[in-house]
Amino acid sequence: MRIIRAKDYDDMSRKAANIIAAQVQLKPDCVLGLATGSTPIGTYKNLVAAYEAGDLDFSEVKSYNLDEYRGLPGDHDQSYRYFMNVNLFDHVNIDKANTHVPDGLMEDYEAACAEYDAAVAAAGHQDLQLLGIGNNGHIGFNEPCDSFIVGTHCVDLTESTIQANSRLFDSIDDVPRQAYTMGIGTIMGAKMILVIANGDAKAQAVHDMCFGPVVPSCPASILQLHPNVVVVADEAALALCPAE
Ligand code: PGA
Repeated sequence: MRIIRAKDYDDMSRKAANIIAAQVQLKPDCVLGLATGSTPIGTYKNLVAAYEAGDLDFSEVKSYNLDEYRGLPGDHDQSYRYFMNVNLFDHVNIDKANTHVPDGLMEDYEAACAEYDAAVAAAGHQDLQLLGIGNNGHIGFNEPCDSFIVGTHCVDLTESTIQANSRLFDSIDDVPRQAYTMGIGTIMGAKMILVIANGDAKAQAVHDMCFGPVVPSCPASILQLHPNVVVVADEAALALCPAE
């Protein structure tokens, strides 16, 4: 794992966007695995700015998002499809037909999850997978549990995640209790993984991801076994990690 230290959120966002921009420039028809949450908003803003400056062309890019709340339609303002449209897709020249977010309303979800994994594989897997990390060490919505789950699946969100995400809903009762998420195997299939983290609430999770034992109680720790992981984190998120 390579750790890149950023001064603050803006610095993290710029550094992460530069890495994604380089991927798109080097391989214009690349497959991006994309993430939602507060952390990547600045990264996406920088990508939009690079697009507007004429430095990036997304016309051949394909994307697969990590996760989606179960039960939310794509036009719900808390759905992750909506988030992606508002924060990135509506502002760049990506073909929406090439953007994929698990469908929160899928009926036969086991078949649909398997199809999602098959589609990622058929696209050649993610050239670059962007990840945030939860306070509890989750990646996507792979919550701490007793085993690493390989494929895209439906999860029960933990109380900690429901609490953390309630800030975005009118009330905690409105937060969906379940979500669909790429599995650990789907994520690990990426050729490169870029993890971004900021703020002291992430410090323990970032430490455990990079330096703790590889255990499903900290799902992000599995990334230690991937050959090409870059972590871009600010000083606060790296506070518990060794200085060098
Ligand atoms: P956040 O979430 O970016 O909103 O902190 C990250 C995550 O849960 O993966």
